[in-house]
Amino acid sequence: MGEPFVPFNRAYESGRERDYVSESISSGALSGDGPFTKRVTDLIVARSGAEGGLLTTSCTHALEMSAVLLDLEPGDEVIMPSFTFVSTANAYALRGAVPVFVDCRPDTLNIDERLIEAAITERTKAIVVVHYAGVACEMDEIMAIAGKHQLPVIEDNAHGLGGSYRGRPLGSIGAMATQSFHVTKNIQCGEGGAFLATETALLERAEIIREKGTNRAQFFRGMVDKYRWMDYGSSYLPSDMLAAFLTAQMESFDEIHQQRQHVWSSYHTQLADWAGERGIAQPMVPDHVEHPAHLYYLLLHSADEQRAFITHLKERGVGSVFHYVPLHSAPAGEKLGRSASPDGCPITDDVWCRLVRLPLFAGMREDELSRVIDAVRSFKS
Ligand SMILES: Cc1ncc(COP(=O)(O)O)c(C=O)c1O
Repeated sequence: MGEPFVPFNRAYESGRERDYVSESISSGALSGDGPFTKRVTDLIVARSGAEGGLLTTSCTHALEMSAVLLDLEPGDEVIMPSFTFVSTANAYALRGAVPVFVDCRPDTLNIDERLIEAAITERTKAIVVVHYAGVACEMDEIMAIAGKHQLPVIEDNAHGLGGSYRGRPLGSIGAMATQSFHVTKNIQCGEGGAFLATETALLERAEIIREKGTNRAQFFRGMVDKYRWMDYGSSYLPSDMLAAFLTAQMESFDEIHQQRQHVWSSYHTQLADWAGERGIAQPMVPDHVEHPAHLYYLLLHSADEQRAFITHLKERGVGSVFHYVPLHSAPAGEKLGRSASPDGCPITDDVWCRLVRLPLFAGMREDELSRVIDAVRSFKS
């Protein structure tokens, strides 16, 4: 019998999750905004450096909240990368806005800041950036363009909690930011997210949007004598049980980070000669950026090689995946959005079908790590 499969991702338990969930169940305070929600929100806000934040049911929902806050009208435009998860675009398309897709940089795979200004039109209402793999976008340039055109920047920071750009934590640079606590993220509770903002007025309105468009949170704080329908809104508030699980994860942030960093660095150093000899690209991290070791990828030579590599790893008991299928040429991307350039997004088209992500999770054993490295190194490119 062969050795057990090394999965692409394995949910990590830091130790206190079950105790906290059990405590939450015993307390009976199972709906949203209970004691664990408060506790974990403080930890997330402190880690992100934002002015404040709200726990949400997902990053997708936090993005939807940001779209409501932008007061988008049908036909308004929101600039974003094509190389991202579908939620980045869907959140704004749901409000009738047109996602305008900008190509990525060939080195970090982040939105190419040099292409943003040309994508701005009279209808542009915001710029959304994604810190791919938790490696920061070039935020000085992006904030300068946004400032010049008076556009808010939203950081889709699904990958980047704990990362920084020139010493500034990711999630604290744009007007708004969103986090994901999906099971594949560094810190997770199965499904979850957070909305962050740098202005109190945005946070006050976001709290209403998150509570079905009502001021229920103010009512519970004794600020109003009844709660009423105040604004657009939906049900974006998770149960306190999920917050309990997430509290345990956030309290172990440093330990989880250390473990992930070990795996990331081992791949980076132990695959360097193998990759270098073959012209296979490893992730590029600029000197002014700290990243939270969210994902490790290799860029192979072609789509055929990508498929062969994934099969090769699978045959050696190692799970690996590709992503993201570009948005600008996806069926909904073509219908609801457009590329900023008449040439489309050639770098995105080129990289996505050559990229392979290796297993990376806290709790990966040394024998598993060695097996992944050996399996990669035995691939004849
Ligand atoms: C960049 C990005 N944004 C948003 C999301 C959506 O996150 P969630 O599953 O928490 O809604 C993801 C999910 O992987 C993502 O990668």
